[in-house]
Parts: sequence; C-alpha cells; structure tokens
Amino acid sequence: MKSQKVTRGIILAGGKGTRFEPFTLYTSKHLLPINDKPIIFYPLSNFIKNGIKKILIISDKKYIENYKSLLGSGQQFGVSISYKVQKKPRGLPEALILGEKFVKNKPFALNLGDHILFGKDVDKILKKNFTKNNSNYIFTINHKNTKEYGVLEKDKKKNKFRIIEKPNKTKSKEIVVGIYIYDKDAIKIAKKLKPSSRKELEITDLNNMLIDQKKIKILKFDNKKNFWFDAGDSNKVLDISSFIKKYEKKSKIQIANLNEIALLKKLINKNKFLNEIRGKKGSYFEYLKKKYE
Ligand code: G1P
Repeated sequence: MKSQKVTRGIILAGGKGTRFEPFTLYTSKHLLPINDKPIIFYPLSNFIKNGIKKILIISDKKYIENYKSLLGSGQQFGVSISYKVQKKPRGLPEALILGEKFVKNKPFALNLGDHILFGKDVDKILKKNFTKNNSNYIFTINHKNTKEYGVLEKDKKKNKFRIIEKPNKTKSKEIVVGIYIYDKDAIKIAKKLKPSSRKELEITDLNNMLIDQKKIKILKFDNKKNFWFDAGDSNKVLDISSFIKKYEKKSKIQIANLNEIALLKKLINKNKFLNEIRGKKGSYFEYLKKKYE
C-alpha cells in the first residue's frame, strides 16, 4: 500500500457521561477539568503536536455549543476544527461512519475525547506514524486494570493476536489505548458491524477483523517512559490531576497547553500567541505569561 500522510483526525467526545452527573447535566464529560485544563485538551494535544491540522469533534447535540465556545474554529491554535453531532451514543466505530465525508478517503487518526497519553516516546511514535502511514494502527501499553479495557492477547508461537474487550480473566497486561489510525477499509468494516450485548458497535470487533485480514499494525508504548490515563471515570479525576501537576512541575513544561504547542510548532506567530493570552487568567494562562510575555 502506498504511504500517505495522516493530516486529519477525529475526536469522539460523545455519550451522556452519566457517571459524571450532576456535572454532565450542564456540560460534556470531556470538558471537565483535569488539573487546569479541560480533558479534551489532552487528546487535542496528541493531534496538534504531531501534524494533524484538520480536526473533527463529534459530540452529543446538547453539548456541541459548549465545544464551539471553548475551541471555535481552532485558528487560535493554527488548526481547523469542525463539529458533528452524534444523535445517540452507539459506540466508538460510529465515529468512523460519521466522519466518512470529513476524512475524504484518506488515512486518518481517531482519538477518544477522554483519555490522556503522554511521555518520552509518545510524540516520536505518533509523529512517525502520522507522517508516513501505510496501514491501520492500534497502540497498546501495559496496565493493571485489564478488566476495564480492550486487552491484547498474543500467541507468539502461532503469531496470533486477539483483542478481548474487558476480560474477567487474562494473562496479558497489554491494553489498547484510545488512539487509532485507520483507512477507508476500516470505515467499510464499521458500516457492517452489529451491536454487541451492551447495544453498541465495538471498536474491538472492528480491530479484530482488521487483525484477521492482516491489515493492522500494533505499536506498544513502554509504560516506564509513557503514561496513559482514562479520564472518563469520575473516581480517577483527582488522582490523575495530581499526577499531572507533579509531572508538570518536575518537567517545567505543561502537558497539553495548546497555546504553547501552537507557538512552539510554529502553527501561529508570537504576536498572535500574545494576543490570545492577553488579559486571560488562571494557572493555564499565568504559566504562559510568565514564560513568554
Ligand atoms: C474503549 C474500547 C477499549 C479501549 C478503551 C480505551 O472502551 O472499547 O477497547 O481499551 O476505550 O480507553 P470504553 O471507553 O468504551 O469502555
């Protein structure tokens, strides 16, 4: 297959976020804070840092205006952001169907709006595979809560792979994180999927079909150098926030500060950057003012 650049990305920020009520009675789960920024800034940073300039955000109708107020056209970060309504949360593969027109037959990335991925290799690996892509990709990392995620089981001798969604028992520690690269073959498969017992289309069914057809590559992040969190669980919000706060203090650079990323990646010039942050308060902006004004 000819190698093509991945320049488009979809962020699925759907669902009703019932585990976050009462907050989700007035806003979307993915707009709640982790440390000093909305959760969606983290998946957006994976895209904006690594060459994805056209982004589609898919969300419930109730919340779409919230996203527009926060992110607008994306021009403040030197990218273009558009929006699409998901009428009912019918599972992750629906993002591929809803995004079909947006991706224009080209390979694209899919990122879940509520997971956080960063570390020493993340940008290097994402950038490499967004720049020269000739396959579908899933990304994995070792994690202790295998019961809550898609788990990759390997039979190395037979060179066989299978993803088991939320297994009760497994010997594997390798879970599938919420960022994927797909091409138009994956959209075709998404359209044929049947809902699972939880009445949703399952991304794991789609990925297993791509594994059977030998059309997907699996890349593993080293969990000693990289971090992955599922922020879609209200019990974890405080722990993740404090981990990130400590990590940022030590590394002296904020994770997912989209304004800073846009400046450092030269997606906007310094004047535009300064105009954007002028007069704004909060530790997200104070950090930028101290560093760049
Ligand atoms: C989904 C996928 C699962 C994956 C996880 C990553 O789970 O089905 O395979 O490991 O995202 O966050 P869900 O959020 O639907 O429970």
